[in-house]
Amino acid sequence: IIWRSEASPPSQPFIIAHRGASGYCPENTFAAFDKSIEQGADYIELDIQLSLDGKLVVIHDPALDRTTNGKGFVKNWTYQDLRRLDSGSWFHEQYKNERIHCLEDIFTRYNGKAGLIIEMKKPSLYPGIEKKLAEALIRVSFSSSLKYPVIVQSFNENALKTFREYSPHIPIGMLVKKHPAGLSNKKIKRISEFAQFINPKINMVNRRLIQRIHSFGLGVLVWTVRDKQAAEKLRHFGVEGLITDYPDLFH
Ligand code: G3P
Ligand code: CA
Repeated sequence: IIWRSEASPPSQPFIIAHRGASGYCPENTFAAFDKSIEQGADYIELDIQLSLDGKLVVIHDPALDRTTNGKGFVKNWTYQDLRRLDSGSWFHEQYKNERIHCLEDIFTRYNGKAGLIIEMKKPSLYPGIEKKLAEALIRVSFSSSLKYPVIVQSFNENALKTFREYSPHIPIGMLVKKHPAGLSNKKIKRISEFAQFINPKINMVNRRLIQRIHSFGLGVLVWTVRDKQAAEKLRHFGVEGLITDYPDLFH
């Protein structure tokens, strides 16, 4: 899974645009993804949920209220309904034409331009989402030949294991947050049995943790990196990727 934009020198961690360049544009929209490409991101990170009619749609929250002019839950609306919503005005009026997209639209628009990190968000709300995602990836790799690497990530370990059964060759990232018990070697080993990356929240990261994760053969993609100083430290620790709202900050 090697993908680097021309803007990114090979010895640097990958720059991963968190929900697109979401520091500048409304998250998970074409505007945010286009901006991240413009800014030289190596990967786009995006979140998926499932519509009432079983379409994989790109939006972070299970509910529509924060980032659209719709109300209620994504899973209670068809894709056709969701398409009509404005997903940009909440950020700034200039983005009023932004829409909720399906995953296929993302494949089509960004094929060959950046890698994709697809997060299954709250998969427990959507039984069968793992299979749907695996099938979508198979369809796109047959129809248009996937010209970029894809990584699938989630906080939900069971969903990742299920996804892997359907799609054993797509790299997997286990998202983790700070926990009072820490991230034990036992847990890292268990994760290494089904994943290729551990993706920790920045507030739990130190050099030792990165070394321990690396010692199990896993890569590390850290989120969410918002300043240059933190990025420099993480680069010294040897992390594989920086997930950021501001891709331009790190070139
Ligand atoms: O990529 C890591 C990050 O996206 C996980 O948190 O809430 O932004 O999806 P969240
Ligand atoms: Ca995410």
